[in-house]
Amino acid sequence: MKRQPRSNPRSHKKLRTVSIIGTGSYVPEKVLTNEDLSRMVDTSDEWITTRTGIKERRVAAKDEYTSDMAVKAALNAIEQAKISPKEIDLILLATATPDMLFPATACFVQKKIGATNAACLDISAACAGFIFGLEIAQQFITSHTYDTVLVIGADKLTSITNWTDRNTCVLFGDGAGAAILRHRGSPHGIITTHIGSDGQYTNILFMPGGGSRCPITRENADMNLTTIHMTGKEVYKQAVIAMLNAAKKALEQAGLSVEDIACVIPHQANLRIMEAIADRLGISRDKMFVNLDRYGNTSAAAVAIALDEANRSGRIKPGDYILMVVFGGGLTWASTVIEW
Ligand code: ACO
Repeated sequence: MKRQPRSNPRSHKKLRTVSIIGTGSYVPEKVLTNEDLSRMVDTSDEWITTRTGIKERRVAAKDEYTSDMAVKAALNAIEQAKISPKEIDLILLATATPDMLFPATACFVQKKIGATNAACLDISAACAGFIFGLEIAQQFITSHTYDTVLVIGADKLTSITNWTDRNTCVLFGDGAGAAILRHRGSPHGIITTHIGSDGQYTNILFMPGGGSRCPITRENADMNLTTIHMTGKEVYKQAVIAMLNAAKKALEQAGLSVEDIACVIPHQANLRIMEAIADRLGISRDKMFVNLDRYGNTSAAAVAIALDEANRSGRIKPGDYILMVVFGGGLTWASTVIEW
């Protein structure tokens, strides 16, 4: 079907198409399998596989921080984009596990990659953060404010995992993914992005401790307040609703139907959530890109790693329409349609 874009109320007079000119990713070496977890808590490979689709996940070393993983992903993306770090105008780093509460982890990345001309900030949108970053980058580039933006999704969720809680500890892993965005004078690029939030649900997926409300003290840490708290069933329900609506909205804004989409890159949280989205959208399951079995849920990194793997493996090709759709704590959700 020939694409018929709907009018975008936020359009600028002189729109610049924003393209992803390089992607990169990194996952730590250490593998933690379901078998390993079954020796730590009362669980089994069978339970984890059938309920989530996860077989194994990666765990960063104790002295390997979110910024270290982000740097490796960013350097891969910079190399593929064939640019110098000095050309980067803005670094946006989406994470729920910054190196420190401040300064921004993006600043640590700036120093390590030598992007001396960049402004740097972190984005707090949990698992949806990478697409929030794409949206913000797109706004800066289309408005001619910046030319080159580095967007990173990076998380070390194992640093805030309660390893005695089988409800959550089987779900998460560590990693980072990155993309370089630029106007390159080609019609191919990001067609639309859509982001949203619902603060009604701050209580179903959160970490109570570590902020001004509940500072880190020995007492709070002993009560596991500095780990992820999640009401799994409610998150599951809200995730399906939010991702479905976000996917539909992006398709509508792009003027495309599901038949036009070559590949869907959804948030890698649970295979059952992905299959529910595919079935309800009416898109075949084999169009869904899945690497959750190998990495678990890596939060903001998940779709960024998946995008890089899809790009480097040839699963997405120039001219393909791809749909990315995510959700996370907040709640937050986001979607984008890209002509690759
Ligand atoms: N191994 C064995 N049994 C388990 C485990 C486990 N790892 N975890 C829970 N169970 C048990 C529960 O205790 C419960 O037992 P009970 O019936 O005796 O009480 C039983 O299994 C069923 O538990 P449910 O919660 O009903 O299981 P459900 O089918 O809902 O699956 C899951 C749980 C996988 C967490 C699911 O609800 C889910 O995927 N939710 C969404 C999670 C998610 O996507 N989180 C995103 C986080 S994104 C971010 O921003 C970090």
